[in-house]
Amino acid sequence: MKVIVVKDQAAGGVEGYKVFKNALDNGAKVFGLATGSTPVTTYQEIVKSDLDFSNCTSVNLDEYVGIAPENEQSYKYFMKSHLFDQKPFKESFLPNGLAANPAEEVKRYDKVIDEHPIDLQILGIGRNGHIGFNEPGTSRDVTTHVVDLTESTIEANARFFASENDVPKQAFSMGLASIMKSKHLILEAFGENKADAIKGMIEGPDTVDCPASILQNHANVTVIIDEAAASKLSKKY
Ligand code: GLP
Repeated sequence: MKVIVVKDQAAGGVEGYKVFKNALDNGAKVFGLATGSTPVTTYQEIVKSDLDFSNCTSVNLDEYVGIAPENEQSYKYFMKSHLFDQKPFKESFLPNGLAANPAEEVKRYDKVIDEHPIDLQILGIGRNGHIGFNEPGTSRDVTTHVVDLTESTIEANARFFASENDVPKQAFSMGLASIMKSKHLILEAFGENKADAIKGMIEGPDTVDCPASILQNHANVTVIIDEAAASKLSKKY
């Protein structure tokens, strides 16, 4: 893993932007995107720039089950307001939170990923080491699936909802096997509450207990973290 330590999230956004620019300059056509507070500064830098994604495809990591795309809490809405409205892609895919048949939706999304192999995937990380919504214990062999969210994830995401009770209990998520197929991955993390997850991912054992530790097996991962998220690492970067 290539680890870049920056002062804060604003500086991390600039580094993340550079990775996107470099990928575009080198012909990347399919971008795997993530939601959450972490990638926001990278998206802000992209929005400010002259990068053009109008010939590119985006494929998002996950979406809540039971939430309509126009709902402000949906990941579709998040992507529109943070990136797509200002930087449209030729086509943008997200799981459909309102799919009547979740089993069919999972298959549809796997097909989307197979037909649009991801050149660059951006990831955040949960406090328990989850990526996408792949919670600790998730099998590494699964592709897109429906996830029962853990209490810790529901609690962490409650800040985006009126109350914890309003947080959906399930989500569609790309699986770890889908994520590992991306040619290049960037994982960003900012703040002290991510320090344990980052230590587990980089220095811990390669175990399903820390889903992100699977990235130790990927040949092309760029980790962008601030000093607080790096604070528990034994090695200095
Ligand atoms: C959510 C998302 C993840 C995200 C993580 C961290 O559960 N499904 O994709 O990486 O939380 O979120 P944040 O960036 O807001 O800390």
